[in-house]
Amino acid sequence: MILKSLTLKNFKSYASETFSFHDKFNLILGENAQGKTNLLEAIHFLLAFKPFKQLRTEEIINFGSSECRLKGEIESHTGFDEVHILLNENHKTLKLNSKVVYKTSKVHGRYNVVSFLPSDLELIKGSPQGRRRYIDALICTLDAMHLRDLKLYHRALTQRNAVLAKASSLTLDKIEVWDEKLAEIGSHVISRRLEFIDKIKPQLNKIYRLTSGIDQDIQIHYKSSIEAESDLEQAFKDALKLRFEKDKKRFHTTVGPHRDQISFSIAGKDASVYASQGEAKNLALSLKTSEIEMIKQFLGRTPILLLDDVTSELDGQRKKFLFKLLEDFPGQIFITTTDMKEILYKGEIRVFHIKDRKVLHKQIQT
Ligand SMILES: Nc1ncnc2c1ncn2[C@@H]1O[C@H](COP(=O)(O)OP(=O)(O)OP(=O)(O)O)[C@@H](O)[C@H]1O
Ligand SMILES: [Mg+2]
Repeated sequence: MILKSLTLKNFKSYASETFSFHDKFNLILGENAQGKTNLLEAIHFLLAFKPFKQLRTEEIINFGSSECRLKGEIESHTGFDEVHILLNENHKTLKLNSKVVYKTSKVHGRYNVVSFLPSDLELIKGSPQGRRRYIDALICTLDAMHLRDLKLYHRALTQRNAVLAKASSLTLDKIEVWDEKLAEIGSHVISRRLEFIDKIKPQLNKIYRLTSGIDQDIQIHYKSSIEAESDLEQAFKDALKLRFEKDKKRFHTTVGPHRDQISFSIAGKDASVYASQGEAKNLALSLKTSEIEMIKQFLGRTPILLLDDVTSELDGQRKKFLFKLLEDFPGQIFITTTDMKEILYKGEIRVFHIKDRKVLHKQIQT
């Protein structure tokens, strides 16, 4: 899959700009606050139909404008696509090959993109919620049923919580219908997460050892709020029953996949507590590299890579390894930097040098 070109109108710091991209290596160079990350954000928006993280419409549209437009030409496994996104205060319109797409879920996963962002450190050091979201999003890319189940689960959870909040005289039999539903869907959610973690574990270990050059054991742990020997659905129902009085006092459901913990360890030590900045960054990079491997293995596709300021905090050995990995990578890459010297890539590079908000395009050979 290759993003051939991108046109931006009033997207963040870009008033009007057209980019024609290299099939392999695109470098976005510039000092701070020039719009490097904004360009990666635009590419992500076009390919994943959403920004990196949730943003308000006014944060996306160029200050002082009333709407923004993105247009991209994409060569993919399904042929040649033209994607248009129009965003204004009232609505977002997505067009695929001139036809309006009314439900984004219909085109979810059409293009695969993997991003490496400075905020990925949060995946290691931040809250369990961030890790759950990341793992769920990744499973959704590989299996559309997970997306459907997550939506159903959260709907049922909201309804159960609303019932809990309404009546202090509530009895167990009145809530059983929601318990059945939560247990049925929630057990699928947990099973898929466990299965996925089993699959990614060996990849993650192998990649971390390779990139760090250190023989350390990397683990990814899933600590469920439901303890089950065999029948997960039944164990979930029992746990809901057991916690009913507590849930009633707290007005929310205290057990289920929405409370489960995912964590990483390096050589047996919890990475959220003990990992150094460099170790955490290397672990986050290894996780994202494993993500690429999973997409290749299960979907038979090569995603587009977006790497934002990825080299800071990596030592010489890790940097060298990263660029070796990028040289061997069979797909398209977009990478930002403030300093050309950080880029150890050998090959043809298309450089987009942003200075005083103007973009200069040139091609070099390193
Ligand atoms: N909606 C918007 N309209 C206009 N400008 C915006 C908008 N949102 C952000 N910006 C501007 O974009 C600039 C930041 O761009 P970006 O984050 O892409 O910089 P960068 O080149 O990645 O910088 P750094 O090297 O510091 O990461 C800021 O100056 C900010 O004011
Ligand atoms: Mg930036």
